[in-house]
Amino acid sequence: MKNLYTQLEQDNVPKTLTLLIQSIVGACTEIATPINHGALSDVLGSLPDHNVQGEVQKKLDVIANNILIESLKKNKQVRAVASEEVEDIILCNSFGKYLICFDPLDGSSNTDVNGSLGTIFSITSASPAQTEVSEEDFFSTGRSIIAAGYVLYGPSLMLALSTGSGTHIYTLDPSNNNFMLTHPNLNIPEDTNEFSFNLSNQFKWPENVQKYIVDLQLGTDGIRKKNFNMRWLGAMVGDMHRILCKGGIFGYPEEKNFKYGKLRLLYEANPIAFLVEQANGLASNGTTSILDTVPSSIHQRIPVFIGSKNEVLLIEKYALGK
Ligand code: AHG
Ligand code: MN
Ligand code: MN
Repeated sequence: MKNLYTQLEQDNVPKTLTLLIQSIVGACTEIATPINHGALSDVLGSLPDHNVQGEVQKKLDVIANNILIESLKKNKQVRAVASEEVEDIILCNSFGKYLICFDPLDGSSNTDVNGSLGTIFSITSASPAQTEVSEEDFFSTGRSIIAAGYVLYGPSLMLALSTGSGTHIYTLDPSNNNFMLTHPNLNIPEDTNEFSFNLSNQFKWPENVQKYIVDLQLGTDGIRKKNFNMRWLGAMVGDMHRILCKGGIFGYPEEKNFKYGKLRLLYEANPIAFLVEQANGLASNGTTSILDTVPSSIHQRIPVFIGSKNEVLLIEKYALGK
């Protein structure tokens, strides 16, 4: 079985990018230690502060954020980073080639119940060395991503990664800390009968999305003529991992009081959309591809419908009233 670095070499990934991926996954294996200790150390629960999103910050949100920033600052190729937990971009090395966006801990409401958690990241190229970096440098569409991935802190520690040559999943071998290629060249089935939406919000969604969901719920009695199953983990990484492995559709639509939904474009929707498109799935905001969205702020939100191709295309049809 190949390890991560053999695969990156085979995909002709430049050395500097490989070293950057190493900095990120190295930080993630470090983050796994406090997650693993859980209630045995003082890492569970919330902090009195809220983050830039106005959301409660878990202790582990801050621990994961600090570990990633410290690791990335040590890498000379990192120009600047944007994190869910920090209001402004963080400048790192003026000669660095890369910009990194990350959600240090995804699904952090799961910390206290030993549920699925993840870290999500994307990498783009920075402007030429020594020119001043500003937030605007992060405002290219997801099409300019050169690598993206997530680490899933589940029963196994897994890394899903794409450098633009398909999406591969690696499993950490705890005996030697090597990520081994266990699921090469993912291919999300075009059709599915599984959906991941938080149905408690159903009546706050736009009418076309409500109609789509009712048609799924009607199963063989409705126009879909097949029964559907539902899964919701409260961590996008966990739900998307299942969808990358066996198909499905994940949705977080806009709501009456959440005009752009809940998920963040730069460090949640875009990296996951990149992984999914590299695995032959689709990612839409309901009408157009997530990866074609031009960002205008680092923490902006976007409605998402991601996963099996035919299901995402169908959602877009419902949006057109067809
Ligand atoms: P985060 O923990 O980084 O704030 O992200 C949580 C996100 C996403 O991972 C998950 O799918 C969704 O929020 C869960 O939202 P609900 O509160 O609707 O379950
Ligand atoms: Mn998240
Ligand atoms: Mn988070």
